[in-house]
Amino acid sequence: MSDTAPTPFADARDEAAVLAELERLVAADRLVGHGEAFLVRANGIVDAFLTTGMLSIADDPFGGKDAELLADTHAYYLMLWRLFDRTPASMMADFAIRVRRILARRVLAAVGDDVIFHHDVYILSGRNTSLGNGVFVNRGSTLDDRGPITVGDHTMIAAGAILTTHGHILDDFSKPLPFGGRTMAPITIGSNSVVGYNSIVMPGVTIGDRVIVAANSVVTKDIPDRWVVGGIPATKIKELVPREQ
Ligand SMILES: CC(C)(COP(=O)(O)OP(=O)(O)OC[C@H]1O[C@@H](n2cnc3c(N)ncnc32)[C@H](O)[C@@H]1OP(=O)(O)O)[C@@H](O)C(=O)NCCC(=O)NCCS
Repeated sequence: MSDTAPTPFADARDEAAVLAELERLVAADRLVGHGEAFLVRANGIVDAFLTTGMLSIADDPFGGKDAELLADTHAYYLMLWRLFDRTPASMMADFAIRVRRILARRVLAAVGDDVIFHHDVYILSGRNTSLGNGVFVNRGSTLDDRGPITVGDHTMIAAGAILTTHGHILDDFSKPLPFGGRTMAPITIGSNSVVGYNSIVMPGVTIGDRVIVAANSVVTKDIPDRWVVGGIPATKIKELVPREQ
């Protein structure tokens, strides 16, 4: 079966438009040198830290060369974050956590004290993510915050976990599937909870306080406080009872 509706990918007219845009970006110095400039900035952060013990991230990582990106400060701090994670300095865990804390304050909608971001966390936008104090986001996890993501204090997002706030309209047969539009729904997670290794939290889900999502689970429904849940879809395994002190 073939779809007759036009697709925005790869027809000759679009190719020309993309190439024209590329030319514009290069002419405006939007691409040339920025990769290198970012690397130099990231190295500068490390050098300053090693020689003075101070951490400082410039308000303009483009050094005045790009007014367009300067107007969208959030985007370039997110770029700086992604680039920083590609540098050797990002392997110095304690230092890297401090750098990402500074970046998180500029990229996320709201962020508490002492958050920990490990290596290679993929943040879609950041503008829709609010994190409480001491939230721990482990390596290789994904915050797909097309819709709002809100996380309470001291919650842990384990390595490889995915919080996704969007889906696609699946039943509009008048269009090719990828162009049928998106659905968005917020994710809310309470305090002192764990989203286990490689688990996925689906759009619209609310998870309570002190909840444990077992490794490799898919959470499709709201989870009350203190439940341990697991599986695909995640169902109740047991309820946590506070231990005697
Ligand atoms: C869910 C979890 C907390 C349970 O640990 P536990 O309290 O020691 O409980 P048990 O190992 O006795 O397992 C209890 C039941 O849950 C099941 N279970 C355990 N892990 C599971 C998982 N990932 N998916 C589905 N079911 C699971 C067990 O098979 C057992 O089922 P049964 O009662 O039918 O035999 C643990 O298995 C887990 O997944 N922890 C999260 C690990 C993680 O991602 N850490 C990252 C921290 S940042």
